Amino acid sequence: MKRLALILIIYAAHAQAQTLAGSGPISGYDFMEPTTQQLQDDDFINPAFFLVDRGLALWDQPSPTNSKSCGICHQDIETDMYDVSRQYPKYDTKLSKFINLEMKINSEIVNKLDASPLAPGSEDLLALTSLIGLQSRGLPMASASNAETQPWIERGKTIYKTKRGQLNLSCADCHQDHWGDRLRGDTISQGQINAFPIFRLIWGEVGSLQRMFSWCMNAVRSEPYNNDADEYLALEAFLTKKAQGLAIETPGVRR
Ligand code: HEC
Ligand code: HEC
Repeated sequence: MKRLALILIIYAAHAQAQTLAGSGPISGYDFMEPTTQQLQDDDFINPAFFLVDRGLALWDQPSPTNSKSCGICHQDIETDMYDVSRQYPKYDTKLSKFINLEMKINSEIVNKLDASPLAPGSEDLLALTSLIGLQSRGLPMASASNAETQPWIERGKTIYKTKRGQLNLSCADCHQDHWGDRLRGDTISQGQINAFPIFRLIWGEVGSLQRMFSWCMNAVRSEPYNNDADEYLALEAFLTKKAQGLAIETPGVRR
């Protein structure tokens, strides 16, 4: 990747930015080509549904150690997991920890199935995350404003505004100050997180929110954090707040 190729190429896309400005958060969906939007719109052709199906199989798969399954306790996924993913990240009173949905799923696997946790970013964890996320599709993103969440939001905001990498750009430089502008093949969106996990055409597969963060960090030539880093959890908390009101699209499709 040549450094020059990464420098922002500003087109005359300001007109679009101006019409949309001031109307609250805008989904990355609105920045996609119609052909990409159509892939997301139809569950039968949305390539991310391959993982939802995988999630359904895992849901009922008995644990090798105690032969329990998610489905034994949470009988009807559509009612029992309705509106659940939307609550995350949140402070879990049982675990006494601020966690995201992936961490909750893993704690269920460890504590209730007596099995080993799934690796962050692994296909099985993405599958269960997509399946549970789908049960909140269409509901508005929401962020808790309690005392346990607030410090994470603040920390995420600082990370979001910190310039980094050889290109010395912050998340805000692109997604807050330059959305609507063109960067190589992409129109820069507001970097909203209402569609994750997403099938990304340039990846050719479904990826996690943390993978996207790392992709953006690589784009400015900075060292990404680990998938399970507190920094990413803080970014997730801040971006959940930023996306408040946007309809959840999980599982989304992006370029
Ligand atoms: C050099 C510009 C640039 C910087 C800096 C940058 N990104 Fe991105 N980001 C992109 C591009 C390009 C895409 C893909 C097109 C789009 O959705 O904007 C993207 C996509 C995203 C998406 C996916 C949006 C969706 O609708 O699925 C998220 C989330 C995101 N970025 C978060 C971040 C975060 C967090 C940071 C800071 C750590 C960051 N970005 C820094 C350019 C940037
Ligand atoms: C032995 C029964 C049992 C099994 C097996 C089980 N769960 Fe749970 N699960 C519960 C109970 C009870 C709660 C509520 C209390 C808590 O959070 O621990 C819960 C909570 C959850 C929550 C949080 C709900 C919320 O409102 O925040 C998620 C998500 C979840 N389970 C997913 C799973 C998944 C995925 C599996 C399989 C990998 C699984 N559970 C297996 C009993 C179970």
